[in-house]
Amino acid sequence: MTKKTITINYTEYKSAAAMEPKDRELVEAALEARSGSYAPYSKFHVGAALRLVDGTIVKGANQENVAYPSGLCAERTAMFAAGANYPGVAFDTLAIVGANGDEVCEMPAAPCGGCRQVMAEYQRHFGRPLRVILIGTHAIYKFGKVEDLLPLIFDSLKVE
Ligand code: THU
Repeated sequence: MTKKTITINYTEYKSAAAMEPKDRELVEAALEARSGSYAPYSKFHVGAALRLVDGTIVKGANQENVAYPSGLCAERTAMFAAGANYPGVAFDTLAIVGANGDEVCEMPAAPCGGCRQVMAEYQRHFGRPLRVILIGTHAIYKFGKVEDLLPLIFDSLKVE
């Protein structure tokens, strides 16, 4: 038996002011994207902004449904919109912010497992790291690749 440890890496910023300009712009876009949230049930408004490698920014926001499982997270609305509208253009960075009503969470809201799996799929598909930024009012976390949010990714199907 061997005990092992997995280390994940991320950078913490006190605010967006300390980030590089293209990331600051993406943080702003994610904050704006919250206005597209349809969350009458949870009142938790999530905004996502996805930068593609050509510089295009695609926004997403959570969409709820009275039949709860029919709704979708903000991250996936952004990634699927990009996949559908800009096929073949690789993803560079995904920024995410959660808010209770209009109040942005103090600590960064973490994406659900389903969204992490979708991030992993596109990262593998495009063959380049997908950077992820999680935004809170007290801290912002930047991850350089999806493995740092989803260690031991399931990718064993030899479908490609
Ligand atoms: N939600 C997201 O949009 N992203 C996540 O990663 C977690 C949760 C949404 C789904 C639902 O509309 C609301 O937040 C409460 O769970």
